[in-house]
Amino acid sequence: MIERTLVILKPDAVQRNLVGELIQKFEKKGLKLVAMKLSQLTDEILDVHYAHHKDKPFFKSLKDFMKSAPVILMVLEGPEAVSVVRLMIGITKSREAQPGTIRGDYAISTPDNLVHASDSLETAQIEVKRFFKPEELYSWNRANEDFFTSNSER
Ligand code: CMP
Repeated sequence: MIERTLVILKPDAVQRNLVGELIQKFEKKGLKLVAMKLSQLTDEILDVHYAHHKDKPFFKSLKDFMKSAPVILMVLEGPEAVSVVRLMIGITKSREAQPGTIRGDYAISTPDNLVHASDSLETAQIEVKRFFKPEELYSWNRANEDFFTSNSER
């Protein structure tokens, strides 16, 4: 099934000049960009986005980190995009992430694990709405779509 997922390139990705390289990985995989913007996050949106972590000891430091520089917000589309992107980024603890994943190859710390991605289709739908207005999402036809996804998967 074609899905959309919310991806955030966190402040460490922006500070380390990894934005282009990380976007290129998603593009090369065959995921389609349907929305993207640079944004500096605020407590208001982070309190909602990380509500499930509000009682954790790292909640404030996580928010401080996420506010420390602009982030790249994007929506990626493709067959089973939610699980594809989660596989690509690797597990939360960067030091234990598999080599070949983004965190496994580029990160050695937490919360500085470079990328956030929605963890389920249901979460993805909520998170896309949280960060993007409907008019910021673009449904567009890729001219060479046949080379990325077969007809039966669309
Ligand atoms: P992510 O999985 O994108 O969303 C929750 C974030 O909380 C996670 O990435 C880390 O950035 C951060 N996080 C999770 N666990 C810890 C922890 N034990 N200490 C600090 N930050 C954490």
